[in-house]
Amino acid sequence: MRVLLTGGSGFIGSHIALLLLEKGYDVLIIDSFVNSSPNAIKAIKNYLDDKNLNYNLKTINCDIRDKQLLGKIFIDSAKEFNPIQTVIHLAGLKSVSESFINPLLYWDVNVCGTENLLATMNENECYSIVFSSSATIYGLTDSIPITEDHKISPINPYGKTKVAIENMFYDLYRSNISSWKICSLRYFNPAGAHPSGFIGEDPVGIPNNLFPYITQVASGRRKFVNVFGDDWETNDGSGVRDYIHIMDLSEGHIRALDFLCSNKSCLEFVNLGSGKGYSVFQIISQFEQSTGSQIPFSIQSRRDGDLAKSYADISKAKNLLGWAPKRSLEQICLDGWKWQRKNPNGYT
Ligand code: UD1
Repeated sequence: MRVLLTGGSGFIGSHIALLLLEKGYDVLIIDSFVNSSPNAIKAIKNYLDDKNLNYNLKTINCDIRDKQLLGKIFIDSAKEFNPIQTVIHLAGLKSVSESFINPLLYWDVNVCGTENLLATMNENECYSIVFSSSATIYGLTDSIPITEDHKISPINPYGKTKVAIENMFYDLYRSNISSWKICSLRYFNPAGAHPSGFIGEDPVGIPNNLFPYITQVASGRRKFVNVFGDDWETNDGSGVRDYIHIMDLSEGHIRALDFLCSNKSCLEFVNLGSGKGYSVFQIISQFEQSTGSQIPFSIQSRRDGDLAKSYADISKAKNLLGWAPKRSLEQICLDGWKWQRKNPNGYT
């Protein structure tokens, strides 16, 4: 079965691609490479070649806003008697701070790009899509753990674009209820790397997120971690989040794909997290303990738009998709560190 994977060379996309290929799917990656490196694809191939695995992987440089090229990709696949049967859609911009500075770019890439993709799918009678949504759509909350029916109230433009896309799904599904199969996965905090150390997270510039920042401090690329606030209403005063191993997250996508294949038509919104909350101080200390590295830190004031605590209720993913995370926080630290040590400068 041919799967179109948009954003397949990014952190999450590369891990999903590798898993799909190992499981025998035919994978067609499209990526504009604005925030990722084609070397991630090379690393996937190196890993599979190393294992002597046969695989079907094709990569096309394509921005999802390019309607003509998208259409051609679907038509060419059909001409090859290998039509795209389902889409895993990850392509998009994801920096909260950048989305405040350039909101129109976020609406253009994320919302218009997705509209383009859905229209092209519709025209080519491909009605199955797994989408990368985000826990950021829940906004500020007192009700922890967060279930999927929690109020949707994003506090940044990036989150608003994810909500707009989910709303698009509602309307599209209602317009053709017998055909569409849609599963929107709301990620909490993906972290870690493939256990081989071949692929991992390689953010462009200074990492916004805690985990890649810690691994870059451990490798000596940065001096210390800035802890954004030690006065939150949490046990130790630092922010609490739900870190999910990238391999668990990737397996969640395969389960979602299987779920769509075995169902008639559906529209589902599902949290993917570990279901556990850890504070910034706990993460630093677990990383030090697991890897033997020293992680110096400095307390800073709170970051704009942050919240005290966020972690997922993952019962829906368990019940609906038969999925559960298997890897511990220690595994996240070990695998993330292995990737960083093997590739101190990422893919460059
Ligand atoms: C962030 C985004 C969220 C996005 C998610 C993707 C913001 C406000 N939110 O979530 O929309 O979906 O990444 O993974 O950017 N921290 C530090 N020092 C750092 C970095 C982070 O102390 O250098 C703290 C934060 O204050 C927070 C925790 O670490 O308490 C996790 O932060 P981060 O990794 O940026 O994730 P989120 O804020 O949950």
